[in-house]
Amino acid sequence: MRVLVTGHKGYIGTVLVPMLLAQQHEVVGLDSDLFERCTFGEGIEAIPEIRKDIRDVEASDVEGYDVILHLAGLSNDPLGNLNPNLTAEINYRASVRLAQLAKQVGVGRFIFSSSCSNYGAGGEELLNEESAFNPVTPYGESKVGVEKDVSQLADDNFSPTFLRNATAYGVSPRLRFDLVLNNLVAWAFTTGRVYIKSDGTPWRPIVHIEDISRAFIAAMNAPREAVHNEAFNVGRNDDNYRIRELADIVEEVVPGCKVEYAEDGGPDKRCYRVDCSKILRVLPDFKPQWNARRGAEELYAAYQNIGLTLEEFEGEKYKRIAHIQSLLGSGKLDGDLRWKAAVSV
Ligand SMILES: NC(=O)c1ccc[n+]([C@@H]2O[C@H](COP(=O)([O-])OP(=O)(O)OC[C@H]3O[C@@H](n4cnc5c(N)ncnc54)[C@H](O)[C@@H]3O)[C@@H](O)[C@H]2O)c1
Repeated sequence: MRVLVTGHKGYIGTVLVPMLLAQQHEVVGLDSDLFERCTFGEGIEAIPEIRKDIRDVEASDVEGYDVILHLAGLSNDPLGNLNPNLTAEINYRASVRLAQLAKQVGVGRFIFSSSCSNYGAGGEELLNEESAFNPVTPYGESKVGVEKDVSQLADDNFSPTFLRNATAYGVSPRLRFDLVLNNLVAWAFTTGRVYIKSDGTPWRPIVHIEDISRAFIAAMNAPREAVHNEAFNVGRNDDNYRIRELADIVEEVVPGCKVEYAEDGGPDKRCYRVDCSKILRVLPDFKPQWNARRGAEELYAAYQNIGLTLEEFEGEKYKRIAHIQSLLGSGKLDGDLRWKAAVSV
């Protein structure tokens, strides 16, 4: 298939692209490359690409593809909180416009990287795709907005699919430390201590970025009827963990480290569990292969391999909000999160 991947230079995109290439798909990327200075370890597989802001996409950029995998955007709550208007502009309005353009030029499939943050604070209840939207942040609101508007575009020739990913983890050429498991292992590795600010009871579903990529691939290869205007939680039911359980796993995987809990740490508001049975039932080709323990082992080995230092861990290179703030502070990005200097196309 001819595939356009937006956000191909991000944490998930740089893992997804090689997996698509391994399946002989013809892949083109589109990304403004906000994290161009943030590569971890070995480089990123080069593919034909359009270096462009998603807000500036034109019909000619999206023409001629069988499917668009749309991942570009501001990718977590802290970044989404930076400027809620911009979050709406980039994550919501530009995504809806991208889908409209895709439909206009005859791209039949559009798979959106949505999020379990659509459900907001869920508590103990297991949330499935029928559960009510209850976004509690600008980031969550932007994802819900896209799902609502893009689902209206579905017709005989245009099939959108919404993949509601759990919190990601895993090693990527664009590694991030602002994700719970990546962060806990990095704390343990660089300081020998894992400090948990809550009481450790909140639930958090997590999913490896390779398994997220498998979900994209399974959805694009599935018969149209199976995925037409459907939403899927992406993860495994067994991978709903309490933060405390994740911390215990990290303590077991990273030799000599100790977990500590804040004395006044109460339960965290961000607590939810998701039911991922639907994707396993409807997309039999989706075979997730990771769990938290294997993920912690992978991360630990990668940190050892690169000799991760506390300075790097605490620096801005691998934390999205800190990196964007640094680009804003140094004047490389303008207040609209666009590169100031002309970029090569
Ligand atoms: N990582 C997670 O835990 C997670 C969970 C659920 C959903 N998602 C979603 O998956 C997608 C990818 O996430 P990620 O973790 O790889 O994020 P990321 O921040 O690592 O990558 C996002 C990419 O989008 C690009 N981008 C940002 N704004 C852009 C713009 N205006 N124009 C063009 N490109 C732009 C960035 O340069 C970056 O390469 C996002 O939509 C995110 O919301 C991520």
